[in-house]
Amino acid sequence: MPKKLLIDTDPGVDDAMAILFALNSPELDLVGLTTIYGNVYVEQATENALRILEFAGRRDVPVAQGAAKPLLTPLEGVAHFVHGSDGLGETRQPPPTGEAVDQPAAEFIVETIIANPGEVTLMPVGPLTNIAIAVELDPRIVDNVAQVVIMGGAATVNGNVNPAAEANIWGDPHAADIVFGAGWPLTMVGLDVTMQIVMDATYLDALKEAGGRTAAYIHDITRFYLDFHRRIHGLGGLHTHDPSAVAYAIDPTLFATIRGGMRVLTEGIAAGMTLMDRRGEWYGEHAWTGRPPVDVCVEVDAERLLALYLERIVAAP
Ligand code: BDR
Ligand code: CA
Repeated sequence: MPKKLLIDTDPGVDDAMAILFALNSPELDLVGLTTIYGNVYVEQATENALRILEFAGRRDVPVAQGAAKPLLTPLEGVAHFVHGSDGLGETRQPPPTGEAVDQPAAEFIVETIIANPGEVTLMPVGPLTNIAIAVELDPRIVDNVAQVVIMGGAATVNGNVNPAAEANIWGDPHAADIVFGAGWPLTMVGLDVTMQIVMDATYLDALKEAGGRTAAYIHDITRFYLDFHRRIHGLGGLHTHDPSAVAYAIDPTLFATIRGGMRVLTEGIAAGMTLMDRRGEWYGEHAWTGRPPVDVCVEVDAERLLALYLERIVAAP
């Protein structure tokens, strides 16, 4: 039986790459997309989610629009400089024909999990606002979700917004601290591993060469994103962020994890930092005491993951 997958997303070039990976993997059954600000404003995220599904011929997958800003802080802006002003690498695709369902993302998340007890993998790959709202709306989801797989955070390496913070956690640190503390089976697929997996120009060209229209679409949308990596990181390829969360859901043996309580710093120069209790034993109480342990990916078989991604996208219609 494929795993029911619900992705909370801010598409976003790598979000689109992740969604197409999931749609073309028989281990997964995409039951919905919920949208969030982050790479783009939430209205654009919703349009892009619909566009990607329409491209894939999967208009049957519902899209629910989520929060337009963080829980407690104003929206600082979006990442047009990373993903293009349209979020899809300036590919300027026509507007979608379909529409989002008439239900806020957090309600959709709650309903989907409660209707399928123990079956839904919840996969946030943007700021965690919708997920925190959903937990507060109906805490029963904590015991009814199969697993939560988050792309975000940096436990053993620097962030990518600044030395402390990764973009998705930085986007809403208060929400992230709620989500990491909720007490559900949670795995963090953060920069510790996603920056070790690089799709270079040769890989993306080979993908296009071997595949069909899905591979060509991915090649197209990654041009702008590649250029960003070249300018900012001096890298001849792109970091494989959101597709890595999908890879974890397909085959967790691609990764090695460590386990411990996680706090997210919400204020100060390190706001958005994921700070993990990697020791576990202390002589006194502190802000990590009683935090439920979470799994954090720290190693990845990048070669095998890249081969899996290529295989699925090349075989896609
Ligand atoms: C994360 O931030 C966004 O730009 C990407 O889509 C990914 O989810 C990487 O830090
Ligand atoms: Ca994302």
